[in-house]
Amino acid sequence: MPFPDQRPRRLRRNETMRRLVRETRVGPDDLMLPLFVVPGSGVENEVSSMPGVFQQSVDRVAETAQRAFDAGIPSVLLFGIPESKDARGSEAWSDDGVVQLAAAAIKKAAPDLLVTTDVCLCEYTDHGHCGVLDGEVVLNDETCELLAKEAVSHARAGADLIAPSDMMDGRIGFIREALDENGFQDVPIMSYAAKYCSAFYGPFRDAADSAPQFGDRRSYQMDPANAREALTEVQLDLDEGADIVMVKPALAYLDVIQSVKDEFDCPVAAYQVSGEYSMVKAAARNGWLDETRIVDETLTAIKRAGADIIITYFALDVAQRR
Ligand code: PBG
Repeated sequence: MPFPDQRPRRLRRNETMRRLVRETRVGPDDLMLPLFVVPGSGVENEVSSMPGVFQQSVDRVAETAQRAFDAGIPSVLLFGIPESKDARGSEAWSDDGVVQLAAAAIKKAAPDLLVTTDVCLCEYTDHGHCGVLDGEVVLNDETCELLAKEAVSHARAGADLIAPSDMMDGRIGFIREALDENGFQDVPIMSYAAKYCSAFYGPFRDAADSAPQFGDRRSYQMDPANAREALTEVQLDLDEGADIVMVKPALAYLDVIQSVKDEFDCPVAAYQVSGEYSMVKAAARNGWLDETRIVDETLTAIKRAGADIIITYFALDVAQRR
């Protein structure tokens, strides 16, 4: 039925009509807020390349987590910046490490808020790579053993959801087995399954103090040119026991989010990463873009592509204005 009988504008006439027919809505339930934990107390350092994002000590992180829960956000994602770093990243599985202390403090402050923990070694190693080294080679299986220890230590501290971000082969299987052996068979895994080697992580490396001291992460993170390979990575992680799979970054990989969603039945998460956040903040500060509208539009696009969970540094802002 062509024009003049068909007039799509009829359903766009006013906001109430548009609300009635809107296909995609983003609300607090869709969001997860990343938080950076540092040692000490009363500490709040703004990350220079991420205005509005702070490294916080355990006490402050617990307060922010409480605010997130009050705004209706179901989960926070914890990253730790340890007191000291070494070649193996041993602070990562220390039961009194910053993430472990923060997990416990948050569970006390807001017991129903889900604490998700990022499991990786790059924030804990003095060389900044996501695994242990032999010369300049990142060792796979040896790293998986350590990640499994880290995951168990997080679960012991109260983590509700474990999120490995290292991209070693087989790590989901190692972690699942270790969690099960230690009585944490009910703690799910959200794997960073399709994690690309991206320039969009630049500001995060300031926030987490985790820039690699030599080379780059191309030998473990995925080549941005590859979409089919993402499906293989997701399949492997699901076979090894992942409960939720993630695509990361988000906006430059909407096609990947969509094909993962089409292909698999599990919940799909997408991470709107540090660079995506900083670009919007920088442009908004210059008066070049309307921050609120850009944030709503990009989050809507990420959800429209198929994401069930969106991890974003804008989560608290968005949830508080809903
Ligand atoms: C750790 C990790 C990174 C991010 C999440 N977990 C950094 C990296 O892989 O270099 C990036 C998050 C962001 O940019 O917001 N492996």
